[in-house]
Amino acid sequence: MLSPDPWRALDAQPNVHALIAGLEKRGSTPAQTRLRARFLRFVPVRAGQRVLEVGCGSGVVLRDLAARVGRRGEVVGLDHSRTILAAARRLCRPAPGCGRIVLRHGEGGRLPFATGRFDVTLGITVILHVADPLPVVREMARVTRPGGRVGLQDQDFGMVAATHPDRDLTHHILDGVVKHLYEEPYSGRRLPGLLREAGLASVRLLTDVFQDTTLEPWTKTFLERRAEYAVSFGLVDAATAQRWLDGFTALVAAGSFVFTMNYYGAVGARP
Ligand SMILES: C[S@@+](CC[C@H](N)C(=O)[O-])C[C@H]1O[C@@H](n2cnc3c(N)ncnc32)[C@H](O)[C@@H]1O
Repeated sequence: MLSPDPWRALDAQPNVHALIAGLEKRGSTPAQTRLRARFLRFVPVRAGQRVLEVGCGSGVVLRDLAARVGRRGEVVGLDHSRTILAAARRLCRPAPGCGRIVLRHGEGGRLPFATGRFDVTLGITVILHVADPLPVVREMARVTRPGGRVGLQDQDFGMVAATHPDRDLTHHILDGVVKHLYEEPYSGRRLPGLLREAGLASVRLLTDVFQDTTLEPWTKTFLERRAEYAVSFGLVDAATAQRWLDGFTALVAAGSFVFTMNYYGAVGARP
């Protein structure tokens, strides 16, 4: 049976192009750009390194990485969706340093790379979508050279705060949807443990927060999708979902809108 989480089997989704557009919208949000930059510094990713991103999607992070590793570096993006890889190919073409980006089709749990091939291996907002993440992280560790780094970053859907006049309804929708949608909605806080279990050493954690006070386009789409899911999972009826969305619009008009979501970044060294 197909999982309700669209990122598990992107090519089978009727709205695949809308999902890809949403990823690009998220990637271009200034708060998300800062969040990515802080994580890449934390790992750290340096000039001249060979970097792999597993679950690279449309290439938002790959484009940052290409700028970061410079002319002597190399960036490889791997994804199991052929549709999103085609989009990544198109979207990365105009980016500075695009010649350094190589795209590969493959599964996170069976990486088509030699042992020790990379200096840094990353998984950014991907582990959350993997039903059995440990084999993927073990593979990431295998393709990383001794002394190299494996870095994971995920949002944690148990750490979402949103102002709304109906707090109970907000909890009912946000918590209810993630329980139906994801195998492990609280994956962010589990990343350090996952790295240790996969045999990585010197594990460090960076907790970061995405913050929006104006209902930016990506946040608006995020909340609208949560409302749609809440209806399709039978949590609320369509009128209640619309009333919930209208509650945010009123707060924005009053200048009282706040939406925050925790991101956890964890890094470990390959012994
Ligand atoms: C939410 S997107 C994140 C994309 C990118 N890392 C970013 O932050 O913009 C998750 C991506 O991981 C891919 N993915 C999910 N599970 C995967 C797996 N087991 N192996 C390879 N790719 C996977 C999906 O196809 C999707 O493109």
